[in-house]
Amino acid sequence: MSNLQIPLFESVETTHLAYGVVIFNKDKFLQVIEGLIDKSDIVNVKKEIFRIKEVIGFPQNDREGMLNIDSNGDTISLRKDVLISELNQILESQTLERAIYYLKRLVSGIRKIKTSKINDINLLRWKEYDEIITDSLWILDKRDTSGAHLGWYWGNFIPQIPHQMMLRYTKKEDWVLDPFVGSGTTLIECKRLGRNGIGIELNPEVAKKAKELIEIEYNKFNIISDVIIGDSRSVDIGQVLEKSRIKRVQLLIMHPPYHDIIKFSKDEKDLSNAKNTEGFLRMFGDIVDNVTPYLEKGRYFALVIGDKYSKGDWIPLGFYCMNEVLKRGYKLKSIIVKNFEETRGKRNQKELWRYRALVGGFYIFKHEYIILFKK
Ligand SMILES: C[S@@+](CC[C@H](N)C(=O)[O-])C[C@H]1O[C@@H](n2cnc3c(N)ncnc32)[C@H](O)[C@@H]1O
Repeated sequence: MSNLQIPLFESVETTHLAYGVVIFNKDKFLQVIEGLIDKSDIVNVKKEIFRIKEVIGFPQNDREGMLNIDSNGDTISLRKDVLISELNQILESQTLERAIYYLKRLVSGIRKIKTSKINDINLLRWKEYDEIITDSLWILDKRDTSGAHLGWYWGNFIPQIPHQMMLRYTKKEDWVLDPFVGSGTTLIECKRLGRNGIGIELNPEVAKKAKELIEIEYNKFNIISDVIIGDSRSVDIGQVLEKSRIKRVQLLIMHPPYHDIIKFSKDEKDLSNAKNTEGFLRMFGDIVDNVTPYLEKGRYFALVIGDKYSKGDWIPLGFYCMNEVLKRGYKLKSIIVKNFEETRGKRNQKELWRYRALVGGFYIFKHEYIILFKK
């Protein structure tokens, strides 16, 4: 890549744009593209498209100043690979009508932004969002350990979970509430994506460390992060929101203990210390009751939960918790099955577990759920 190209291709905040982007002078670029719509000859259209591709590859050939970014001018960032494929589609058109159809589609994706009420995905440029998962089976093989995501907390979730949920179910500057914030994964991700975040954590030491880590994450979008120490069953959420002069949040993310699989503390208010499954579900339900009034209607609640074994029987904690939420009037939107990272304890004991599974006739947990509800 020549030196001249470097300022034109840059990475911006979200991973979906972390691919190379080309920044155009919007008016100039539109002038060139719209000029082609009036051409009566497909050969000339294709010649011009070749030239645009050349400018993208070799900016020094930019005669019209399509890439001239003056301080007052409007700019448009387009993902380079998607744009190239759109230009190729025009080049491959067999008829002038088809080429013009693609040109018009390109123009409208630049002129207009079409988003829904719950996220910032520009549906006119949906191909730029291929990092957003839309399937119900998630096989994620690597934890994102960049920046403040250190992965130090046993029982945390991988940052890709809140990342995916926020991209699909929130807009910039929306508010996210996580009543089991643990090591702060959700709030670190909030900072990266420009969402305000409130987390509640029972264990003061864990909350303190989470706060320190959230603090070191760069606050590019100037958002608010608030970690409250307390029992999510009884924290006065209304009062917490009042501090930031808001009444509701736009996304709930909950990652409770999977009952007693990991004991997070000795505190009897900790869900991991519930005496039995019924007790655990009661405590979980109390938290759902406490936070539900503060979730905006029509918005989403993502519950991350796994099942467990007890005395050789499979306890479907995920479905039990799902039922608790459904009893409270939420609509079920999705049950996502996600592969499970090996816990540190089991990593070295793979063989032993396999042997035990063969002997005992059971299966080794390899998945957990992200259950999605709408209020
Ligand atoms: C599965 S972890 C959440 C991990 C978090 N998603 C992360 O990435 O670090 C569950 C957390 O809930 C906390 N917890 C348990 N009972 C609680 C309660 N009643 N109120 C608030 N937090 C609680 C535990 O201390 C633990 O940190």
